[in-house]
Amino acid sequence: MARPHIEFIQSQVIPFKKDLYIGIRDNIESRILSIDNEDGSSSCILKYPSGWLQNQPQALLVDEEFFVLEGSLEINGQIYAKHSYAHFPRGYAKRSHSSKNGAVVLTFFSGKLAIEETDINLSEYDDNRMIKFIDTQKMEGETGPRKHMNSGDWDPSGTIHKKLYQDPYSGELTWLVGLMPGWWSAKAEIHPVVEEEFAILGDICFPIGVMRDGGYFWRPPGIEHGPFATWGGTLHICRCKGGAYSTDWQESEGPNWNPKYDPILPSEYREYLNKSGDNYDKEPGY
Ligand SMILES: [Fe+2]
Repeated sequence: MARPHIEFIQSQVIPFKKDLYIGIRDNIESRILSIDNEDGSSSCILKYPSGWLQNQPQALLVDEEFFVLEGSLEINGQIYAKHSYAHFPRGYAKRSHSSKNGAVVLTFFSGKLAIEETDINLSEYDDNRMIKFIDTQKMEGETGPRKHMNSGDWDPSGTIHKKLYQDPYSGELTWLVGLMPGWWSAKAEIHPVVEEEFAILGDICFPIGVMRDGGYFWRPPGIEHGPFATWGGTLHICRCKGGAYSTDWQESEGPNWNPKYDPILPSEYREYLNKSGDNYDKEPGY
């Protein structure tokens, strides 16, 4: 995998560009969070304007996974409202695709964007890799030990977990994690796989800064991170890529509750940050 280590960027500083980086959906805007310069896979925020409509039925040659941040989408008659999730395997045909009132959608593509050239009526997909729709707000959360996370005897107290997708072949996972206000852990972590997260809401204190709503990271395997704390609680969508998830724990002296923002960023992201002039070390502003 060839995506740079990004840890972390407030995605608000990355500009929206017209269309997708490969024109498969007209008249949308896209903000690329990270992209692989070898296999073309990407993580993006897509902004669909109100009244948007895809005129032609379409199937992609890559997987499309998404989580609706704002607004709603319609696909094949199903409404995907705020915090809805889906994982469409490559080849799944969208016979209708629209947004009545607009939508902002966190979207992950598994490879270089390309459209199925064959007759849409013949398009096939692997049903074992399909999650057609989850309303994550209504979904029951797990609060006890998570055996599928292969993370030893970690104490999950004060956290909630919603498993959204597990690839039956690679073991790759997508999940939501919520941390309650005041939660902290003295443990740091290392995973053998990429960990990717987007902060839907809240704050989390990492040693390299406080990641807030809209914060994003892509962390390659084997990099120690943590310990962690949260002032007011947080909700993140997380993915592991490159195989099954597991965690090695490292003891530490405890989290820094007031870290300064000192991110690891590729030069392009550093420029976005400098250009934005936004201060992400700001106090809440009471
Ligand atoms: Fe981690």
